[in-house]
Amino acid sequence: MDFLKQLGIQSNNLGTCSNGLWLQSPKEKPIISYNPATTEEIAQVSGCGLSQYEQVIASAMNAFSQWKQVPAPKRGELVRIMGEILRQHKDELGSLVALEMGKSKREGVGEVQEMIDMADFAVGQSRMLYGLTMHSERPQHRMYEQWHPLGICGVISSFNFPVAVWAWNAFIAAICGNTVVWKPSSKTPLCAIAVQHMCNQAMSQLGVEGIFSLFIPYDHTVAEKFIHDKRVPLISFTGSCKVGLQVNEMVAKRMGRVILELGGNNAIIVDETANLPLAISAIVFGAIGTAGQRCTSTRRLFVQRSIFDEVINRLLHAYQQITIGSPLDEKNLMGPLIDAKAVDAYVNAIETIKKSGGEILFGGKVLSMKGYYVEPTIVKAKHDYPIVQQETFAPILYVIPYEKLSDAIAMQNAVEQGLSSALFTNSVVNSEYFLSAMGSDCGIANINIGTSGAEIGGAFGGEKQTGGGREAGSDSWKSYMRRQTNTINWSKAMPLAQGITFEVGS
Ligand code: UN1
Repeated sequence: MDFLKQLGIQSNNLGTCSNGLWLQSPKEKPIISYNPATTEEIAQVSGCGLSQYEQVIASAMNAFSQWKQVPAPKRGELVRIMGEILRQHKDELGSLVALEMGKSKREGVGEVQEMIDMADFAVGQSRMLYGLTMHSERPQHRMYEQWHPLGICGVISSFNFPVAVWAWNAFIAAICGNTVVWKPSSKTPLCAIAVQHMCNQAMSQLGVEGIFSLFIPYDHTVAEKFIHDKRVPLISFTGSCKVGLQVNEMVAKRMGRVILELGGNNAIIVDETANLPLAISAIVFGAIGTAGQRCTSTRRLFVQRSIFDEVINRLLHAYQQITIGSPLDEKNLMGPLIDAKAVDAYVNAIETIKKSGGEILFGGKVLSMKGYYVEPTIVKAKHDYPIVQQETFAPILYVIPYEKLSDAIAMQNAVEQGLSSALFTNSVVNSEYFLSAMGSDCGIANINIGTSGAEIGGAFGGEKQTGGGREAGSDSWKSYMRRQTNTINWSKAMPLAQGITFEVGS
């Protein structure tokens, strides 16, 4: 596997990088990176301890004091260089994502493309950190707002998008004048190490240091220290609703800020006017892409009763074409789940569904081959089964017939999560209804496009238990900055607010 060498991955790697230097951990507690397609070890990483963590934070704070003084368009140059390096290594990094995370190579390369798009976006944004100008109510006063960086932005990312989610946060945070400290998932440490090597190259090319750093802790103590750390004003966390809630509480206690990108339980609704071939490919991609391990994965499908059988038949036909196997073999559409725990969650969900009375229409079994492979699964279910209300990170699709669109929307909104949603329709009335305040309650609502595969240009995130955060495009940059309102009095008078007057003499 030449790509590992090209990305700077060795059999033993250091898991902490500060100021472009890889730090040795005094304790020998390696983190092992496994290939989910074979269950074999890929490489080891020496985890970050408390003293290395301290070094990372101290350097990132120090770097911030310089970086915030660099004009924003110049900060964009660092991200522009990152975009170039990523272009050079797109195939290798895409392969590493496929190897370590288990998504198909095409999806792995697609994820790196998402980083490149994000870099381009952030470079442009570095010239557009706009504030408003207001009209003061007082004469000869000017009032405006400006945006300043926060300091260290902490990024805690998940295994399922081991590189792109970091880029959504890190590139925007950096052009805003922040430094970025990354704690990746311990399930995908090599992806993070490969990206950090690229960061080091970009920083040394520009002659700066400490803007991007990395630590991969060997236990929870160091990770928790990070979340509690007052020197880290913002924590952007991607992960489960359960852990996200804990992170939210811990950061709130110290009045820090969070960006939360938590679970989804996303639905597609197909109405009687829908273009079915279009709908089917979106459903299949949404349900089995990344083996159902995206927060945007399609988990629930509501089909108008008059076309229910036809949609099921078309889906069954499509599912028979899904090629499962090594993610690095480009003919495969679906790879393994991340680990044995994920397979257990799949098995438990299937058992629970059967007990609830759900009918397995396709799949439902663990594949008897090496690696964490399971069958993509379609279940005819009722919406009130508790398991349907939960997010199981696996390729299980619950299909449910409906009569009226309002019923389908009510079911769609009846879960705790609120990330992504989609309606397939050719009716302008249904489309407008779905997108109105009476329609989907999710952060993302699409027409004739599935729930996953969001473009970086929009603000990404969701409501309710999904956490309310927004990342990537639109005006998400504002979450990485603090707003300052400035009023300048250039008159010779002191007109006090609310018409109050004070006699203080001349
Ligand atoms: C995630 O699963 O955490 O919209 C992110 C998508 C991808 C991002 C998913 N662009 O499916």
